[in-house]
Amino acid sequence: MCRGSSNIACLLSILCIGTLLTLKEKQLEEKLCRSVKKIVLSNLLTIPEDIPSIVRSLDISINTISKIKEFDFKDLSVLEFLNMSSNVISHVEDGAFLHLVALQRLDLGYNELTIISDHMFRCLAKISILPILLDSYNSSFTKNKIPQFESCVFKDLKSLKVLNIGTSQILALSDAFKNGLQKLEILDLRDNKLSSVRKEDFKSLQSLKELLLFNNQISSLEDGAFEVMVNLRSLTLSANRISQTETRGRVFRGLKRLTSLSIFSNHIKYETDDKLNPPPFSHLTSLKILQWGKKISGSHRPVTSSLRGSSVLHSLPVLMAPV
Ligand SMILES: *[C@@H]1O[C@H](CO)[C@@H](O)[C@H](O)[C@H]1NC(C)=O
Ligand SMILES: *[C@@H]1O[C@H](CO)[C@@H](O)[C@H](O)[C@H]1NC(C)=O
Repeated sequence: MCRGSSNIACLLSILCIGTLLTLKEKQLEEKLCRSVKKIVLSNLLTIPEDIPSIVRSLDISINTISKIKEFDFKDLSVLEFLNMSSNVISHVEDGAFLHLVALQRLDLGYNELTIISDHMFRCLAKISILPILLDSYNSSFTKNKIPQFESCVFKDLKSLKVLNIGTSQILALSDAFKNGLQKLEILDLRDNKLSSVRKEDFKSLQSLKELLLFNNQISSLEDGAFEVMVNLRSLTLSANRISQTETRGRVFRGLKRLTSLSIFSNHIKYETDDKLNPPPFSHLTSLKILQWGKKISGSHRPVTSSLRGSSVLHSLPVLMAPV
């Protein structure tokens, strides 16, 4: 079909028939084809200037883009999906997302971000006051290195449901979860370097259903650390440095809907039953699955047996002590 025509004409005919286009930078002409809805671009060092403004899905993942400039996306007001994962992005200029008023999903994973600035998502404040938006916003920052957040960085993401900031070398949460994120249901903070969970850390996350904190360095849990999460169903705290004193009941108070708690591979060891009175999980009245046990060196003796007599574990249908 394309024989005899130039490359670009051939590509554009494909473009007009289908919805998928692979082109090099600066080869796009919106006026030549109005049906393109999805674009996949390769060999990019920067974001092309002439992306058609009608595009709804833009995949510029797996390139070598290092910087997002303020006006890179200025015409993309109907863009719903933007994938920039696997680039080398280390800097996003303030206001760069300002014009992406229709954006529903953003993937910034596997980049080299070291900071998420206070202003980075400011545009999304605008988004969130429009009714249609952010319903299934699904964002991944995985593999960036973000030791610390500026305060309230997510506060404008009022419709965000899923936030994945695992494997990002996060040391502290600052005020990141004290404002906004009222609809967040899943927060993935696995594989970071958090050392504590304080009572106010997750203050605004009343909607949260799943919290993943495994593989951090958590050794300290404040009383009521999860108290606001009245809807939480699943909490994963395994592979941290939590000791038996940190599993006291007051730590887990408020988690009335929690059905699954995973806390294996921590530093929990009971020599006497002092710490078992009151039983550590007695506040967790809906708990059905407890993943509990020890992977750390030395004698592997899951604590399950010493807990078996305590009332809280009595009615547990599933008790897992991973080896
Ligand atoms: C973004 O692109 C990467 C690599 O092409 C892919 O693995 C990833 O699933 C995409 N993200 C989303 C949210 O689709
Ligand atoms: C987020 O997007 C990825 C890639 O499309 C998908 O595989 C994953 O299930 C999504 N997560 C949620 C919780 O919607």
